[in-house]
Amino acid sequence: MKIFLDSADIGEITALCDTGFVDGITTNPSLIAKSGRNILDTIAEICSLVDGPVSAEVTATDFETMLSEGQKLATIAQNVTVKVPLTRDGLMTCRALSDAGTDVNVTLCFTAGQALLAAKAGAAFISPFVGRLDDIGHDGMQLIAEILEIYGNYDSIQTEVLVASIRSPMHVLHAARLGADVCTIPPNVIQQLAKHTLTDKGLEAFL
Ligand code: E4P
Repeated sequence: MKIFLDSADIGEITALCDTGFVDGITTNPSLIAKSGRNILDTIAEICSLVDGPVSAEVTATDFETMLSEGQKLATIAQNVTVKVPLTRDGLMTCRALSDAGTDVNVTLCFTAGQALLAAKAGAAFISPFVGRLDDIGHDGMQLIAEILEIYGNYDSIQTEVLVASIRSPMHVLHAARLGADVCTIPPNVIQQLAKHTLTDKGLEAFL
């Protein structure tokens, strides 16, 4: 399973990329706003730090503007993946960008039916939000299982399942057990994954 970092913070990205286990980055408008920087500059800098896919999200909601925003984002660097929301206009944008050779990450997915449409629209990645489903009393990981089952039924579907809205190491482990393609993980959850008190105590004793 690939590990993407869910962050637009250059400091966090640099520190974690140095570990060698980060395969890509996802950003969204909230994360970019939190960084306090301009989207184009931020994405360009992230792309210069990471070889793998870097998701950059459009902010428009209509097809024409989304498409031109996506085309502009795609010119920033060869490893930009344009992120579009799972709406009718977003799916149309996905189709147009994919046909032109740009990788697209379709985000804000909450049902397997939506995921099926994203695959039909040529998405390189589908981003189901497990944490936000759990937050409203649904079972986010059940959605991942359903999407993987459906995509697995068709050799023609090449869309990768990118598990998003991760809240804990358990989400990551569950996604890996189900065989998800990618997990995009916030930096604090990556730290939690690496840490165990018995490791720390054992090391203390050895030293
Ligand atoms: C990643 O692509 C998503 O934007 C992100 O995982 C959303 O996470 P959140 O639900 O914690 O905002």
